[in-house]
Amino acid sequence: MEAEPLREERKALYESAEARVNLFNIKCLAVLLLLMLATESLTELGIFTAEKAAVRLCAAAGTILFGLPILVYLIHDQSPRREDTILKKSWFKYLAISSAFLGIGILCTALTFQSVILLALPPILAAQYRNQKRLLLWTLIGTALLVVVSVYGGFFFGLADWNMLKAAENPNLLTRVERVALATPQRMKELFWHYAMPRLICVTAVAVLASGITRRNAKMLEDQAALAEKVQEEMERKNSLQTRVIDALATLIETRDVSTGEHVIRTKKYVGMIAREMQKSDQYKDYLTDHVIQEIENAAALHDVGKIAVSDVILLKPGRLTPEEFEEIKKHSTKGGEVIRNIFSTFEDDAAFLKIAEDIAVSHHEKWNGTGYPAGLKGEDIPLPARIMAVADVFDALVSVRVYKPAMTPDAALDLIISESGSHFDPDIIRVVSGMRRALIDAVNTPV
Ligand SMILES: [Fe+2]
Repeated sequence: MEAEPLREERKALYESAEARVNLFNIKCLAVLLLLMLATESLTELGIFTAEKAAVRLCAAAGTILFGLPILVYLIHDQSPRREDTILKKSWFKYLAISSAFLGIGILCTALTFQSVILLALPPILAAQYRNQKRLLLWTLIGTALLVVVSVYGGFFFGLADWNMLKAAENPNLLTRVERVALATPQRMKELFWHYAMPRLICVTAVAVLASGITRRNAKMLEDQAALAEKVQEEMERKNSLQTRVIDALATLIETRDVSTGEHVIRTKKYVGMIAREMQKSDQYKDYLTDHVIQEIENAAALHDVGKIAVSDVILLKPGRLTPEEFEEIKKHSTKGGEVIRNIFSTFEDDAAFLKIAEDIAVSHHEKWNGTGYPAGLKGEDIPLPARIMAVADVFDALVSVRVYKPAMTPDAALDLIISESGSHFDPDIIRVVSGMRRALIDAVNTPV
């Protein structure tokens, strides 16, 4: 059952990759054809008579006018960002329809080889893109017929043999009828072998080439998609295992230390909020990426994991602790580091999470002025995730009820925390926290 969404995701990934390849191929072919038309038109303008150049230009214009909307439609159809295309705009639809009609009109008088290729290409590409062999076959047959028609049509209307028509004194309809009447079977054969056949071969070659390139690219992309899927599956497997271990440990801490109840979930929330706010400043944006924040949040759930090594008598004692008992409970920070190292060092390739989780567990009771525990670290020697954790941990403890104290209002708790900026807490973090007073107060009042 779980494989279904993955299969769907892989299909979507493959289709979007294939669409990108086809889009690229279509763009390349469109540029190639337009270049071909432009080159021929320019050449004809310089070398031959104005009449011939005008006919060629007519053919080019007709081809472009008719072919361009089709190409734009195909690009739209295969674009991964369909919503952005100009096809959505009504002015383009009118322009496309009118230019297509105009193009057909011009093409009727000047059907050239280039026009035929351009007319045939969109359906060829569409057919091979969707792997519709029957459509591909009919498109090729239709193109072949068009090629033959263009050759003989050109002969009958004097476009393929302009010089012959020009030689006639009165190139009117009668002249053309005479030419048809005079045309011998031998001449018809010559036209086929000298004009139609090379063009048929050329059209088939273009179709095979376009199809081959796209199929090869699609195969390559399918391999890439399969690899990406494998990596994703592996990541999901690892993440879910890691998440389950974190959840299990967090539940264990909660069951040991009932007084803190939902402390773990709430501190995780505050840590995430503060880190995301810090991410907006230039000072932290390089380190606090979305991924790192996610890891800090996950690791925050384990900040008091070392409490599983503290005796129940001390941990569950109602009322204030004696100095000896407090010394005992202080050990939860270093114990927590050991527990995390023992468990998470078995997760290969996740050294970053191990470091963050260990830093938070060991150093969340350190103070900015060096009077904290267990190592008495000072200032920026305290790892940043632990400095954030310290604020979230104290804030939640202040606004929560304990057997030995009532809950403080969020406003008063924040005032107290801000007053300890530079002594207990990192002044830069407190600057961020004081700017998010409203959000933190709302978060306290929102049930977890
Ligand atoms: Fe703690």
